[in-house]
Amino acid sequence: MKGIILAGGSATRLYPVTLAVSKQMLPVYDKPMIYYPLSTLMMSGIREVLIISTPVHLPAFKNLLGDGSRFGMKLEYKVQEKPVGLADAFILGEDFIGNDNVALILGDNMIYGSRVERVLKAASNLKEGGIIFGYQVADPTSYGVVEIDKTGKALSIEEKPENPKSHFAVPGIYFYDNEVVKIAKSIEPSERGELEITDVNKVYMEKGKLQVIPLGNGYAWFDTGSADRLSDASDYVKAIELRQGTQIACLEEIAYRNEWISKEALMVEAEKYKKTEYGKYLKRIAEQDYKQYKEIFEGDLFNAN
Ligand code: G1P
Repeated sequence: MKGIILAGGSATRLYPVTLAVSKQMLPVYDKPMIYYPLSTLMMSGIREVLIISTPVHLPAFKNLLGDGSRFGMKLEYKVQEKPVGLADAFILGEDFIGNDNVALILGDNMIYGSRVERVLKAASNLKEGGIIFGYQVADPTSYGVVEIDKTGKALSIEEKPENPKSHFAVPGIYFYDNEVVKIAKSIEPSERGELEITDVNKVYMEKGKLQVIPLGNGYAWFDTGSADRLSDASDYVKAIELRQGTQIACLEEIAYRNEWISKEALMVEAEKYKKTEYGKYLKRIAEQDYKQYKEIFEGDLFNAN
């Protein structure tokens, strides 16, 4: 499976912060925002990723992440001239996707939880159809909203409904089979003039091929579209990292645990960042016998039986 990060848009809700800077480049506590969705794709086991952004902002992402080799990945870049909707990512990414399945994540979404890696890996093994998530929020009116039955089957899905049929918002991470390219090309722009991802999901739902995975208690999902939500996400990351002495969305750590980079390569990165907690953390990871503690780190000890 391949991955796409959509990091475009004009982020007017964050003006004046985003007048000259891409939203997805803003810090979420101690890392650029795009680290978080990239880490999500990496935890899904996805190694080839296309980053889509505006003509103005794309070069900064290239400077930040390069060709991806330092994470044992292959990163490609593509300009989106105009923000014409999320589903446009599959049209822009057609050549990149080729005959593969594809995951799309929005550059301003972050998802966290001890079992998240397992859920993501399962989703990335999809054979046919689409997989989306449902996350309970107090006010779902600014999101895609999905209504599900007891088995997780989608009954309805609506974009930013005034009267939502459920409290399940759809986070900005989606897994699809290769059909998605054709489907994205077949849908019409919505009233706000965008190719809506919700319309893509509706096509899958109507074919009975849309699976919804509800993310229950124990998961955190943030989208960082407004100043308050950005600040909430930063506070959350800070609280976890300082309390536990761990890092969220540490790309080099995930690459190392995925066995995409060697211990030596990790040490080189640790040296680069040695003046920061991030660098000290990388050094600690390189020196640790992770495999011995794998079950503890991944929260599996209680599930052994
Ligand atoms: C987009 C999608 C929406 C989804 C949300 C997640 O909304 O259209 O369905 O729930 O991302 O962040 P937008 O960010 O374009 O308002």
